[in-house]
Amino acid sequence: MNILVVGSHGQIGRQLVERLADGPHRVTAMVRSAGQEAEMRERGADATVVVDLEGDLAPAFEADVDCVVFTAGSGPHTGPEKTDAVDRDGAIRLVDACVERGIRRFVMVSALRVGCPEQAPASLRHYLEAKAVADDHLRATDLDYTVLRPGRLNDDPGTGRIAAGLPLPADEIPRADVAAALAVILDRPATIGRTIDITRGETPVEEAFRA
Ligand SMILES: NC(=O)c1ccc[n+]([C@@H]2O[C@H](COP(=O)([O-])OP(=O)(O)OC[C@H]3O[C@@H](n4cnc5c(N)ncnc54)[C@H](OP(=O)(O)O)[C@@H]3O)[C@@H](O)[C@H]2O)c1
Repeated sequence: MNILVVGSHGQIGRQLVERLADGPHRVTAMVRSAGQEAEMRERGADATVVVDLEGDLAPAFEADVDCVVFTAGSGPHTGPEKTDAVDRDGAIRLVDACVERGIRRFVMVSALRVGCPEQAPASLRHYLEAKAVADDHLRATDLDYTVLRPGRLNDDPGTGRIAAGLPLPADEIPRADVAAALAVILDRPATIGRTIDITRGETPVEEAFRA
């Protein structure tokens, strides 16, 4: 597959690109600025493309793309307007671009408790509501989607073990294990059409998505 990693320069994205580098897929790393391209090639990307989710998305699709992984995000240090522009509208426009172009596979990094923001701290509610709109938009298409909803991310070393299911109670997960899960999901047709929560756990990542 030709995989476009959106948010490739992020903390999960970089680890995902490194994981995919040794595998059978061709990886294009989408970055926000030209200054990030060399690093992404060093991390193993076969190609890079400079595209801002708030701008024209067409250049992201100039080379062949069969699959999009969305792991971008406006982050905790911007306001609600960036959450809307990037996490919600950027994702929606990317989904629409895939529908228009017949790109079938779309893996969305979402978040635990999207869909039940009332269970989350008030500071997270706008973000969770924005992600919910994007997730619903994706699920309403006929794309081969997977919505992956990690718990609170941390930078602990990856364990290679997770809990996966729906719904899972609130818990944390190392970003490294989210990247590992994404790499596995890409080769698991059983995850198509699924929304899956993941947190730290005991199941080896390779086994978590077989059923
Ligand atoms: N924090 C949590 O506890 C949590 C929990 C569950 C899910 N998540 C989701 O997981 C995602 C990935 O996490 P992470 O730690 O890898 O995030 P991250 O390090 O902040 O990475 C986000 C990436 O998105 C890129 N980006 C931001 N705005 C963009 C735009 N307008 N156009 C194109 N790219 C843009 C950033 O680009 P630059 O590198 O140029 O900044 C960055 O590479 C988060 O964004 C969030 O939605 C987070």
